[in-house]
Amino acid sequence: MPKIQLLTAREILDSRGRPTVSATCALEGGISASASVPSGASTGQAEAHELRDGDPARYRGLGCRKAVRSVNRDLNAALVGTEFTGDPESAQSQVDEAMIALDGTGSKSRLGANAILAASMAFARANAIAHGLPLYRYFAALAAREPDSLPRLTINLFSGGKHAGGQVPIQDVLIIPLETATIDATLATAYEVYQTAAEIILRRYGMRLLTADEGGLAPPCRTAEEMIELAVEAVGAAGFTAGKEIALGVDVASSHFYHDGGYDLAGSGPGHQAGGPTLDSEAMIARLRAWVERYPIISVEDGLAEDDWQYWPRLHQAIGNKAMVLGDDLLCTNAQRIRRAIDLGACNALLLKVNQAGTLSEAARALALARSAGWVVVLSVRSGETEDDWAADLAVGWGADQFKNGSITQSERLAKYNRLLLIEERNRWPLRLYRPSMR
Ligand code: PGA
Ligand code: ZN
Repeated sequence: MPKIQLLTAREILDSRGRPTVSATCALEGGISASASVPSGASTGQAEAHELRDGDPARYRGLGCRKAVRSVNRDLNAALVGTEFTGDPESAQSQVDEAMIALDGTGSKSRLGANAILAASMAFARANAIAHGLPLYRYFAALAAREPDSLPRLTINLFSGGKHAGGQVPIQDVLIIPLETATIDATLATAYEVYQTAAEIILRRYGMRLLTADEGGLAPPCRTAEEMIELAVEAVGAAGFTAGKEIALGVDVASSHFYHDGGYDLAGSGPGHQAGGPTLDSEAMIARLRAWVERYPIISVEDGLAEDDWQYWPRLHQAIGNKAMVLGDDLLCTNAQRIRRAIDLGACNALLLKVNQAGTLSEAARALALARSAGWVVVLSVRSGETEDDWAADLAVGWGADQFKNGSITQSERLAKYNRLLLIEERNRWPLRLYRPSMR
């Protein structure tokens, strides 16, 4: 029976140059594998706790030496010698449950969700090798399914909010190629739109190609509407029909501009007046509805703030027949919050980020819950990423409808797209369809 022989970890740097955790899991018999974890900037309050050193003299408090120690000392002591048996699912849950119990806090604040997820993922890789499975098949086994499709890509074109200079408050305007048949064709399509958008921005704003945290463009638009219209224009100028060949998504990330019951949609861009009028929840819903009616938007993420529970069902009623009502900060890949959202009818789609949950097993439960309610599932990476590509395998293995991986520049994004290209070459599975029933 296989046993964990050694768990080790180290601090590495993510795509923003901030420390994060990489762990290695060695099994008895010579198999060893590593994995690293990402980190968000526009985080939800209910996310599992990312343990940082808090030493202002080093990486401004962002060091991960405590989390590294959690792996090297605590997790190693608890898990070395653990025998695991049977199928990938029971072995993975045995390891994950042991770590959750050892931490004992619920939020993973003692050992750190960054430490625990790095170990969970490194174990997954090692155990996949032990079973002779490509990682996406191992992940599929965790979700009790057979891989049969590739995710549709939802690609960051423009960034604002916490991922850019804050010129517009909304965080992403994304393009979603609806009719492409392959990952390969989707990426080529996205390249065309991205380059066209960059040319328009250079002409109109005199701004050369400057990118935001996820590799998207960050034009100095005055309003969110201007940014959405720019995306519609770029899609058309690139030779595609907006709304048919390419639809749009927005990550409003509205928790981050919601204060004292008001949504400050004016942001901090040119002409913004601090303390100016804000929108109440009803007015915000009306604004989002107007966007969905006026623009080819099929997905609205975090249209309302994470604690504005009361109004989420109203938002769902207002736009749910036309667009995905996607919960990120609202749900935090947290089974309790997803359950509450299902009961309230708050949304119809889950943004699944594994590090919000902290282990693969808990994220798999979030997936199962969302699927049981018939929701669309979008597997998402974070704004701070590493060159690790497990998220691509996860999107395929878990049959995600869409994969949200930022833009099509920067190696931490491309590692995942390139991995998808390889999986596609090996399997030729069809891309998942955007479900017309949601229109
Ligand atoms: P984050 O942003 O990774 O910075 O939290 C991603 C998102 O909000 O979808
Ligand atoms: Zn989001």
